[in-house]
Formats: sequence, C-alpha cells, structure tokens
Amino acid sequence: MRKNIVAGNWKMNTTLQEGVALAKEVNEALKGAEPKCDVVICVPFTHLASVNEVIDPAKLGLGAENCADHKSGAYTGEVSASMVSSTGATYVILGHSERRQYYGETSATLKEKVALAFENNLTPIFCIGEVLEERENGTYHEVVKAQIEDALFHLSADDFSKIILAYEPVWAIGTGKTATADQAEEIHAYIRGLIADKYGKEVAENTSILYGGSCKPSNAKEIFEKPDVDGGLIGGAALDAPSFMGIVNAF
Ligand code: PGA
Repeated sequence: MRKNIVAGNWKMNTTLQEGVALAKEVNEALKGAEPKCDVVICVPFTHLASVNEVIDPAKLGLGAENCADHKSGAYTGEVSASMVSSTGATYVILGHSERRQYYGETSATLKEKVALAFENNLTPIFCIGEVLEERENGTYHEVVKAQIEDALFHLSADDFSKIILAYEPVWAIGTGKTATADQAEEIHAYIRGLIADKYGKEVAENTSILYGGSCKPSNAKEIFEKPDVDGGLIGGAALDAPSFMGIVNAF
C-alpha cells in the first residue's frame, strides 16, 4: 500500500545556523512520536550535510530541493545528484513550479534530472500543477496530464513506482489560497487514473500523491482525509516546527 508522506520544502529560507536549529527542533518533536506518515524535510543545498548530522534518519528523511540535469563537469554553480546523495540526503524535489517558472525548467530537463536522481538512489518528489488561468479556463487536466506524460511516462513501471508525485496548483502556492479538499481530491483521482491507464491499477494504487499549496495545520486534516490525497508538500508552514508538526499530526 502507498505511504502517507508529509514533506517540508524550505525553499530559499534560513541561514545554515537557522536551518540546523529548525531541523533539530523537528527531529526533537519526532522523538517518541509515532506519526502515521513518513516525514521528510527538503532543505537548501548548503544545509544538507549539516542537517544530516543532527537528524535521526529512521524518523526524518532528508532531501534537496533540486539537482542538476548533468552528471558532472563544467556547469558552474550547479549541484549534481551525486553531490546531493553524498551528503546523506535520499530525496530530491524536481520540477517545482518555481523552478519551471523562474528557471525555465522543461520536461526535457526534468527527464534528465529524474534519470540522474535514480542513478544516485534519490527518490524524486516530482511536482506538477496548473496556473490560475488554466484552472479558470478548465484546461488544468490537460496541463497536468502533459506534465506527467512528457517527463515521466517513458519510465518503466519499476522506475515509475519509485516516484512520489506532488500536485501543487500554482495559484495556491504561498498565496494563502488553498484548493478545497474536493478540488484536491478531484485532480488527485484524475492523476491516479492516468497512472492506472499507463501502468495498471496496482502501480497507481501504490503511488503516493501529495497535495501542496498553502497547507496548514488548520486545513491539512480535511485535505488528507480525501482518499486520493496521500500527504502534503509544505512550504511556508514547514519553516516553523510546531506548525509543521501540526500538519504531520493531521494524519
Ligand atoms: P506553500 O508552498 O505551502 O508555502 O504554499 C508549497 C510548495 O511550494 O511546495
């Protein structure tokens, strides 16, 4: 059966010292706790190795927020999947809408990143989601379908099974405007249907599909209760340990 997962996405926030302190706080809160979901924090590259030192990997997973689309070499400023993996991290967020929007990431680059993540034993948390205009003009199903098909549907069923999907409507990210639980369920069920059509019912049933976009302790429970929502990718609320734990405990 698929896993429930709550993953934090810290984005470009916290200094190294603040980040280590926050990771310690989350780790401490998980001691002795028995959450009904896997808990992961995805942190800036600069923080990975230090954060890895202060967390219990049995309780708290660690991931990066991106990785390069090349293996190694003359790509000044880039951080490769093998570098991420060498810090002890085991997850990587790929295709976040902010990467697509501000850094021009396309399905072609994401395909490379997914392949390199696999080569380095990183589990991709692969983001998809439409912008407001696409939600309003009713084309969001096609948008999400193309994002999944173009970047992931070349994978074997075995490889696809290693992916965690995160549906994040861009209009709900950092805006305080959450999709309703019914809106989330509708598109999550649609996504699961696409996976079933391509890889069969078993793979679809085993794929974790997270919701992201202004998820908070106050709305997480209602969203996570939906049958096709398997957790959340949490931005703003992951920067405060009590509120992040509030979301973890929504399960
Ligand atoms: P948010 O971000 O929770 O701050 O809306 C979610 C995300 O972008 O992953």
